[in-house]
Amino acid sequence: MEVLTTIDQVRARTGEARASGHVVGLVPTMGALHDGHVSLIEAAIADGCDTLVTVFVNPLQFAEGEDLDAYPRPIEADLAAAGAAGAAWVFVPGDGEMYPDSPLTTVSVAALGDRLEGASRPTHFSGVATVVTKLFAIAGRCRAYFGEKDFQQLAVVTRLVADLSLPVEVLGCPIVREPDGLARSSRNVYLTSEQRAAAPVLHRALLEAADVVHAGERRADVVRALIENRIRSEPLAAFDYADVVDPATMRPIETIAVPVRLLAAAQFGIPRLLDNVAALPPHDLGDHT
Ligand code: PAJ
Repeated sequence: MEVLTTIDQVRARTGEARASGHVVGLVPTMGALHDGHVSLIEAAIADGCDTLVTVFVNPLQFAEGEDLDAYPRPIEADLAAAGAAGAAWVFVPGDGEMYPDSPLTTVSVAALGDRLEGASRPTHFSGVATVVTKLFAIAGRCRAYFGEKDFQQLAVVTRLVADLSLPVEVLGCPIVREPDGLARSSRNVYLTSEQRAAAPVLHRALLEAADVVHAGERRADVVRALIENRIRSEPLAAFDYADVVDPATMRPIETIAVPVRLLAAAQFGIPRLLDNVAALPPHDLGDHT
């Protein structure tokens, strides 16, 4: 595995790989790699890609007062994890390489990025969309792997690729969880042991709601309230939002007649944790068209 620090190096390596008929797999990350990130690298390798992992804590997606400076940066462990998973290259640019000047150009996918995570973090998704567009421009034609863990981010990236006709195929990968259901996250390290014990309530609330949908509940507001009440029943959780959305548009749904995504977020002390699950109405509803 080769560690690359400049944009020119990445262009040269990925260009050579494509010229020899290989497909480039791109796994953008902010480092502090865990099993969730590793699953994306493994998916790219399993698809036969020459895989580029990027490790860059993107300042554009952090607002004032968020954890940019405190964000974990265990670079040696990250290189070891990417290498063990089979990455061909890891791109670790400095801030000066990515943004020698504050960028005047930003990318925003307004209607997809303004709700849910975007409501709590108004500048977040334009920061994500801008850096991801830049990484796509640097890596060139590729397959790019993103986790469903950040479901709204996946929707934003899928849409920006379609809108801008970028030569990228976006693949969504399933959420990797701890045995008790908590989604793996670089921010889980901020949890105290009590908060860690309480955090799986997020997943449990979503699973219970998915069961209710599967049993035939079609009123999204009932499902939303169920998730909210379940999370609020946990004293260590500060409820943020729960929603039932169309997975492609991220817009809220009123009547559940097609597969939907249930999403929730809550603060547990320092970290805000998010989670989501798919929910399918029973087959016999008969009005999918
Ligand atoms: P980061 O939080 O490091 O996540 C990198 C990728 O790993 C994202 O696609 C995320 O959805 C995925 N991921 C994280 N936890 C996961 C889990 N438990 N299971 C499956 N996939 C998981 O997301 C970002 O970085 C940044 O916003 C980025 C896209 C790199 C742009 O800066």
